[in-house]
Amino acid sequence: MIRAITPVLFLSVLTYACQRDWNALHTRLHNHSPLHKRQSISYPPLLTETETILVNSFDNRSISDWSHYYTHGDHLGSHNKSQAEWTAQKWREAGLTAYLAEYPIYVTYPEYSRLTLRRADGSTHEANLVEDVLKEDDTSGYPNVIPAYHAMSGSGNVTAEYVYVGRGTRADFQVLKDAGIEIEGKIALANYGAIYRGTKVKNAQDNGMVGCVIYTDPLDDGPVTEENGYEAYPNGPARNPSTIQRGSVRFSSLYSGDPTTVGYASSPDAPRGDVKKYTPSIPSIPLSMKDGLALLHALESHGVSAAEANRTGWKGGFGNVTYDSGPAPGVVVNIDHLMRGWIAPVWDVIGIINGTSEDEVVIVGNHRDAWVIGGAADPNSGSAVLIELAYAFGKLVEKGWKPRRTIILGSWDAEEFGLQGSTEWVESHLPWLTTTAVAYLNLDVAVSGPRTMFAGSGEMQPFVIEQMKKILFPEGSWGDFDTIYDMWFNVTEGDISPLGSGSDYASFYQNGISCIDIGSDGSPASGDPIYHYHSNYDSYAWMSRFADPTFGLHTAMGQLIALLTYHIADDAIIPWDLPHAAKVLESYFSDLNTTIADSEISDLDLAPLQSALSTFTANADRIANVARLAKAGNDTVMIGVVNAKYRDFARGFASQGGLPGRETFRNVVSAPGIDNGYGADVWPGVTDNVNAGRRELAEEWVRKSARAVERAAEILWVGM
Ligand SMILES: *[C@@H]1O[C@H](CO)[C@@H](O)[C@H](O)[C@H]1NC(C)=O
Ligand SMILES: *[C@@H]1O[C@H](CO)[C@@H](O)[C@H](O)[C@H]1NC(C)=O
Ligand SMILES: *[C@@H]1O[C@H](CO)[C@@H](O)[C@H](O)[C@H]1NC(C)=O
Ligand SMILES: *[C@@H]1O[C@H](CO)[C@@H](O)[C@H](O)[C@H]1NC(C)=O
Ligand SMILES: *[C@@H]1O[C@H](CO)[C@@H](O)[C@H](O)[C@H]1NC(C)=O
Ligand SMILES: *[C@@H]1O[C@H](CO)[C@@H](O)[C@H](O)[C@H]1NC(C)=O
Ligand SMILES: *[C@@H]1O[C@H](CO)[C@@H](O)[C@H](O)[C@H]1NC(C)=O
Ligand SMILES: *[C@@H]1O[C@H](CO)[C@@H](O)[C@H](O)[C@H]1NC(C)=O
Ligand SMILES: *[C@@H]1O[C@H](CO)[C@@H](O)[C@H](O)[C@H]1NC(C)=O
Ligand SMILES: [Zn+2]
Repeated sequence: MIRAITPVLFLSVLTYACQRDWNALHTRLHNHSPLHKRQSISYPPLLTETETILVNSFDNRSISDWSHYYTHGDHLGSHNKSQAEWTAQKWREAGLTAYLAEYPIYVTYPEYSRLTLRRADGSTHEANLVEDVLKEDDTSGYPNVIPAYHAMSGSGNVTAEYVYVGRGTRADFQVLKDAGIEIEGKIALANYGAIYRGTKVKNAQDNGMVGCVIYTDPLDDGPVTEENGYEAYPNGPARNPSTIQRGSVRFSSLYSGDPTTVGYASSPDAPRGDVKKYTPSIPSIPLSMKDGLALLHALESHGVSAAEANRTGWKGGFGNVTYDSGPAPGVVVNIDHLMRGWIAPVWDVIGIINGTSEDEVVIVGNHRDAWVIGGAADPNSGSAVLIELAYAFGKLVEKGWKPRRTIILGSWDAEEFGLQGSTEWVESHLPWLTTTAVAYLNLDVAVSGPRTMFAGSGEMQPFVIEQMKKILFPEGSWGDFDTIYDMWFNVTEGDISPLGSGSDYASFYQNGISCIDIGSDGSPASGDPIYHYHSNYDSYAWMSRFADPTFGLHTAMGQLIALLTYHIADDAIIPWDLPHAAKVLESYFSDLNTTIADSEISDLDLAPLQSALSTFTANADRIANVARLAKAGNDTVMIGVVNAKYRDFARGFASQGGLPGRETFRNVVSAPGIDNGYGADVWPGVTDNVNAGRRELAEEWVRKSARAVERAAEILWVGM
């Protein structure tokens, strides 16, 4: 079932952001050509007076100050109400109405956590579950640091032999079973990368293993390694060997938000369900590459060799270990891990600029909580930009400007545990959101490197590309790029990915709201500094020394978001391109067609979906013409009709109920891949069932998906 053989270099590119997967992009680039051809741009860009005010309002010194504030205090989900209040206060100073929205959600923290390797000769090695304290990085030594952990992990005190399982995909486990390696009752040792970490834990659990350890391998750092002559952080761009990647191991392809209130808002008196279905029961622990190496070493010359395994990502980047699977007789690991879970408050911050039309709303959001004291990239590069964005719009408001559509800013809490803050807000504002929301724009890791990428709905793509051409790209060690457009095209060759569930857009998108997710990452293959993802070194010190020393990338990303927000909120006609949306759906259809051709149900009849897409395409062309005429004739009645349809049509995609076994995923166009967990599957209702070999359900979901597309097409229909 695992078809794409992705070259190692591609795998090492851009794999970060909360739970985003840039690998998916490169896999896509192998499968079909991008929809957007290279376009000419006018340089320098010409901006209108209002655009100029917005763009010039961004100040790298202020952004650096906001970043410094956010990255100097514990702000793990539910830990820091004063950061929420400070954010609201800043937005008020900028001229917005702002308030806190509190939700009681299920949180988990480790009570204690310990991992010990015991070799056959009785010698032991104790893993270090915090990074080294560096004098060059002030927040690496903050007091009361919680050991690195996996949120939603199970608890346990288990001692067992352990087996190296490569990336920890289902196919990796199959290789071990085929080779006759006994894995039941043992502990899995997986390397991070390629698939979502929680899926690795789930695969270990499903194979009867009693614990899971996930370590960072230098493989993902491409050429930027110490072995290759680069110095490690803080002296150079390579990975500090003590870095640990924290993260949630919840079953993210099954739900979003609070696992005790799946599908409804977490209010104080809400009934609470059991989390068992949504979280692993076995304990799991993240390790640094230094400690991972010690565990790998102890397995040498036992079990399946890397060459025998013959799996992508199995042989890692250490030159001096063989990556044999083990188990090695008498070599055991003890995981002693106690997680505690309870209900605790989290605080979203909501900021508002009222529009003249109250039934059209644009939302821009970013999460505020971070795994570590810093969080300079994830997520506070986005949070710093959002404050500057509030000030930019404040300048227009000060001049008496009122947007046509209401603008809402959201600073979400507890994203890292599982998109809790945003999901509970969305769930507590349905159906108002489904009657008014025009779009949701998501910023998470706005900057962890220079390379800009997007995932998002088809109707928004041409407009987003036009705005990229208006923003100058800062100078830096990454080469000469005139505008964000030039950088974006260089990175993606013109591709915008479909949406999975890696960040706070998930619950908006799954309720049929047009969404775009925006960010910039580094690419080790291009020599960018290694981003210490979800680690103590994702700090202000790292950001201001390595990733964005002048905060120029932050500035450019902020300017882009400002223009996107401004045009969506204030253009007479919402700047959607429906014929392009149709083209994107057709390209997803052709992806599905390929999946099916390679599957056991290769004769599945896709005609109903194909016919629905033809209707959609026809209606999309038609409304695009109507919009042109309405604009040319300044026909305000017709403009109102077009806007209402542009706002609403995507609700059709979410009109057929939830996907089987994952009811909060309702958008028939895309959802996180069940097995991958990061990247998106297109037409997931069909894809899930085809992959599981369930013919009748696959047929049913072809019909349901077709019906949803028809529903979207009906909403677009205009009689003239
Ligand atoms: C909350 O964050 C701020 C700024 O980052 C910090 O000054 C403050 O100490 C933090 N509060 C708590 C309770 O950790
Ligand atoms: C975990 O088990 C080991 C023996 O296997 C024991 O020494 C240790 O005290 C246990 N930890 C706790 C917290 O009970
Ligand atoms: C490794 O797997 C690939 C396909 O995934 C196959 O083409 C190749 O022959 C295999 N190599 C060995 C040594 O088995
Ligand atoms: C293996 O290589 C790493 C650097 O990649 C080094 O830190 C480590 O000490 C080496 N271990 C052994 C046993 O040679
Ligand atoms: C914005 O609109 C809401 C809803 O109509 C209203 O309650 C609120 O007072 C308005 N806020 C401002 C600042 O005008
Ligand atoms: C991206 O830029 C690099 C270096 O400037 C260049 O070698 C490469 O051809 C560019 N790629 C694209 C797709 O423009
Ligand atoms: C702001 O940008 C300018 C120009 O790149 C640079 O000289 C300055 O150091 C930057 N300020 C900060 C605080 O990074
Ligand atoms: C679907 O795939 C089959 C081959 O498996 C091909 O013949 C057909 O043209 C494809 N249809 C579309 C619409 O892409
Ligand atoms: C369009 O019509 C509205 C009111 O009917 C008017 O206020 C506006 O100035 C007109 N715009 C243009 C570009 O003619
Ligand atoms: Zn994030």
